[in-house]
Amino acid sequence: DPLVITGKDEMRKWSRQMRSQGKTIGLVPTMGYLHQGHLSLIQQAHKHCHLIVVSIYVNPGQFSPSEDLSTYPSDFHGDMLKLKSVPGGVDVVFCPKNLYDYSNGSDEKQKNENLGGGGVVSCVEEKGNGHETWVRVERLEKGLCGKSRPVFFRGVATIVTKLFHIVEPDVAVFGKKDYQQWRIIQRMVRDLDFAIEIVGSEIMRDGDGLALSSRNVHLSAEEREKALSISRSLLKAKSAAKDGQVKCRELKDSAILTITQAGGRIDYAEIVDQESLEAVEEISSPVVFCVAAWFGKVRLIDNMEINI
Ligand code: PAJ
Repeated sequence: DPLVITGKDEMRKWSRQMRSQGKTIGLVPTMGYLHQGHLSLIQQAHKHCHLIVVSIYVNPGQFSPSEDLSTYPSDFHGDMLKLKSVPGGVDVVFCPKNLYDYSNGSDEKQKNENLGGGGVVSCVEEKGNGHETWVRVERLEKGLCGKSRPVFFRGVATIVTKLFHIVEPDVAVFGKKDYQQWRIIQRMVRDLDFAIEIVGSEIMRDGDGLALSSRNVHLSAEEREKALSISRSLLKAKSAAKDGQVKCRELKDSAILTITQAGGRIDYAEIVDQESLEAVEEISSPVVFCVAAWFGKVRLIDNMEINI
């Protein structure tokens, strides 16, 4: 069974001990409510290192006060059962209580005033616990999901930095399901000289094509059916591109129509360069078609790489 660690000092101690014995450590950061997508990242991590740490932490720093932090699903016991039975096993489950609590047992909290972010705040600042240092990947964080979720990627880059400093892994695995997140972490690691290899892992889908997501649990049966329009539209775009349709305007319009007609509300549908995430007009190099759309109260994201 995996060792469960909640304290950051204990976590770092374990890692340093293992590394001093010549073991390499792979980290799979998650927010829990695990599904096959998360488990596939663990399989991937096994290919790169001896020991696996899975972190489970719903990070308030990447939610704005208007987002779904309070309804984010969790099931620690279910997660543990899955982690116990994953092939190859998991060595440590790191589930810290609050990574922004620096009070060391005392409940005296510092109050902080308006902490930047251009008028946007995360749940961490709303609580005013004195945390004021953020990692920003300035250009990559702006587009796609960053447009409608302005504090999201700064929160992700910051918590991943914290996890890297606590776990000190050799390798960390991220899903391409969150394509922009993966690219941002890759860039951050390069720009800030983290000695950590970032591995991107393929998207896991249900048999009907829906990309697995912890948030899918909030979809009604009817919404779930409608949400299949996302993966359907991406597949259609990919095959149209392979058949010679390289004009992104046409490809995007067609996908937007498919999703809208199914009852989805588009947040964005963009065809971007795989590395720079800059929009392209015509496909002449590797691109990724990224979509975010609302079905009822649930915001879903999906993407497909197109290499022609
Ligand atoms: P979470 O949404 O729990 O996802 C954890 C990891 O699982 C991410 O790397 C994500 O891309 C990957 N993942 C989710 N669904 C997937 C799927 N269907 N196929 C393949 N991989 C999938 O992403 C986060 O948590 C957080 O932002 C985190 C990185 C943990 C920072 O808080």
